Amino acid sequence: MRTPIIAGNWKLNKTISEAVALTTALKASVADVNDVEIIVAPPFTALAAVNEVIAGSNVRLSAQDVYSEDTGAFTGEVSAPMLKDVGCEYVIIGHSERRQYFGETNESVNQKVKAALAHDLKPIICVGEQLEEREAGQTETIIENHVTGGIAGLSVTELLTCVIAYEPVWAIGTGKTATPTQAQEVHSFIRGLLTSVYSADVASQLCIQYGGSVKPENAAELMAQPDVDGALVGGASLEAESFAQIVKFG
Ligand code: PGA
Repeated sequence: MRTPIIAGNWKLNKTISEAVALTTALKASVADVNDVEIIVAPPFTALAAVNEVIAGSNVRLSAQDVYSEDTGAFTGEVSAPMLKDVGCEYVIIGHSERRQYFGETNESVNQKVKAALAHDLKPIICVGEQLEEREAGQTETIIENHVTGGIAGLSVTELLTCVIAYEPVWAIGTGKTATPTQAQEVHSFIRGLLTSVYSADVASQLCIQYGGSVKPENAAELMAQPDVDGALVGGASLEAESFAQIVKFG
């Protein structure tokens, strides 16, 4: 069985002291949860401080992005060995905001995924269609491009180290959640794709998260879908209480 993975993507929010306060409260609220993998993804500047707070707890650390090279003249970038060094276990790659505002492509996502894997970081690979694409009936084409582009060239072991996050762009930060049926349709399409590229056995082991306006009120019905294995949460992860409620969706 797939262990549910619930991750909080803090995006461009929280100073170090705010991050420490949020993590301290969250850690206490979810201390008794042992059947869900719980992840927080603070901004780079707060990773070290958050890592100290979560030491020995059931909360894991993720970064929000990584660069594909390990070292060199790449001003402003942060590499996989640096993220590993600061205590990250996961890294979000190819979030739609990175694709939309920072020119991320399937190719750059794939390079980053490989760099992360090479340094024992678990990639959370984000895929998702925009509203116009959905309305034009292109959802499956876009998802297929994002998924096959992101995981190109990965071995079975490497793929199974990854998490895929389906995040319809029209649902991110808009308050408009995909219905459980819409989410299930795409999740099952992704699992079908992985079945054809790898095998049914491999596809059945991979965790596919849903993201886009996940809140305490809708987490349970989304997670009840057979192919929805977790959530990538933005806005509702910025408060310990709402994120803890999502973590305890069951
Ligand atoms: P949201 O963001 O929960 O605020 O919609 C989700 C995400 O972008 O990961």
